[in-house]
Amino acid sequence: MQNFSYIIGDNGEAAVVDPGWDYKKLIDVCEKEKLKITKILLTHTHYDHAMDLKKIVKATNAEVYVHKLENLKDKGFKIKNIEDDDIINVGKTKIKVLHTPGHSSGSVCFLFDKILITGDTLFVGAIGRVDLPGSNEEEMMKSLKGLGKLDDDIEVYPGHDYGEKASSTIGYEKKNNPFMK
Ligand SMILES: [Fe+2]
Repeated sequence: MQNFSYIIGDNGEAAVVDPGWDYKKLIDVCEKEKLKITKILLTHTHYDHAMDLKKIVKATNAEVYVHKLENLKDKGFKIKNIEDDDIINVGKTKIKVLHTPGHSSGSVCFLFDKILITGDTLFVGAIGRVDLPGSNEEEMMKSLKGLGKLDDDIEVYPGHDYGEKASSTIGYEKKNNPFMK
């Protein structure tokens, strides 16, 4: 399904975003980079973004950060409910939570250091589906409008490799993505 997972590492600490698949690979990279995985961040809880959640939590004992409107069925985690404007600290990096409902009611993006991790809200040249249970087209349009107000040079890192390249920028999307125009 061409999912992307991301590792945000700083000062010996790491947050893993969307451990959908290959959790061992994520752990291996963090070990190699001498990063201790302390946090798991979820852009939303669709299975392709969270399928390996249980396994990576079991291996790391990390806390799970997820928006309160998402429905995380397994309650055996240390869960931190996040909402719009919250700040998550990883090392010295401050990650801002942007609530961007539309694909799902509790979808979020993560913003830090001119980098935006967009989950299934914004892809390179496309957007996430809005025909799923919990989707809402109007909310999606509002969320995209909000992302369009961010600086043009902010880099966009999406939840799937569906575009002509793996990542882009807000400026590029506003020019080339029909849903951002
Ligand atoms: Fe999704």
